Amino acid sequence: MTNSFVPPIRTLMGPGPSDVHPRILSAMARPTIGHLDPMFVQMMDEMKGMLQYAFQTKNELTIPVSAPGSAGMETCFVNLVEHGEKVIVCQNGVFGGRMKENVERTGGIPVMVEDDWGKAIDLNKLEDALKANPDAKIVAFVHAETSTGVQSDAKAIVELAHKYDCVTIVDAVTSLGGTPVLVDEWGIDAIYSGTQKCLSCTPGLSPVSFSERAIAKIKARETKVQSWFLDLNLVMGYWGAGAKRAYHHTAPINPLYALHESLVMLEEEGLENSWARHRKIHEALKAGLESMGIGFLVDAESRLPQLNAVFVPEGVDEAAVRQRLLQEYNLEIGAGLGALAGKVWRIGLMGYAAKMNNVILCLSALESVLTDMGAPIHKGLAVAAAHEAIKNQ
Ligand SMILES: Cc1ncc(COP(=O)(O)O)c(C=O)c1O
Repeated sequence: MTNSFVPPIRTLMGPGPSDVHPRILSAMARPTIGHLDPMFVQMMDEMKGMLQYAFQTKNELTIPVSAPGSAGMETCFVNLVEHGEKVIVCQNGVFGGRMKENVERTGGIPVMVEDDWGKAIDLNKLEDALKANPDAKIVAFVHAETSTGVQSDAKAIVELAHKYDCVTIVDAVTSLGGTPVLVDEWGIDAIYSGTQKCLSCTPGLSPVSFSERAIAKIKARETKVQSWFLDLNLVMGYWGAGAKRAYHHTAPINPLYALHESLVMLEEEGLENSWARHRKIHEALKAGLESMGIGFLVDAESRLPQLNAVFVPEGVDEAAVRQRLLQEYNLEIGAGLGALAGKVWRIGLMGYAAKMNNVILCLSALESVLTDMGAPIHKGLAVAAAHEAIKNQ
């Protein structure tokens, strides 16, 4: 007979999922009700309002897609891209590559603007591409590249795209709740995120938001959206105000309780305070790592506080370190991807994981394992450096 699955209790400091707050986990265990139950409908309406707060938008179409961040990405592309349309995709890491895939699969023509992994998107290159492709209709980019820990200037990119009459698709999976994402102020047209990072929630849902301009483009489509499930014309009927709600799919009721709770917690903390907490905890981790002699991949001005890509010390088998952290300390950190595999670790400080206990655990466990392996690091300084860095904050 198969036993129940009882997972170990880990500390999740990788690129996601990140630690889920116990309040959010317990919200998930509340009784399941019907997805057309008036109480559920009321909860969904509250959730829309709280998501508008998280995204800093008044966009009416601000909802959670019933699937993970990748589905939010796909929702944006299948609805906005029409067959034969040119889409400028800025790529500076793994997830820009996924955007290209999405454009191709929706019958669009991707025009790639490539930047080195670990560097922010170069506005001059983007403007050159916009000038060279006056028929482009969309600019798509990743605000916070989880594969490298770099943040691009979303406000400037959107402004540039609008100058050339393009709508924008923005990936905010890793940024939402961790660093400012100001949808209305920056004029973003379509944006998607994920629940498993800075919202301290379980994986599996994707908050999205669409501006009037994006909706107008979707409504003006000449062909049907190729995906039935993600067709916003249908989804809009489901998430429409209160009583008008029509059956589209059975909502993931309990995961939505979790998201609701996570957004209640975000309101309680305050968005600005959440951004400040991520910044502060990053400062502590950074001071500790640097005192050991471990450096960052990304320049300070475009570094994401919630995703720290740091160099593996010379001669160290990075996978062996991660394995020991997991086995001996129940601590998960992430590996590098693509060309960065074997060269960097990705240490996440996202949502509930962005707290001092985690920084101290990570620094002391890493120092202990690296010392044991004879790695060339400075010992005995990291924890004090972390405390010192945030002493007066
Ligand atoms: C920047 C970015 N975009 C998209 C995704 C895809 O999200 P999910 O894994 O929830 O489908 C991720 C996941 O890590 C991500 O980091």
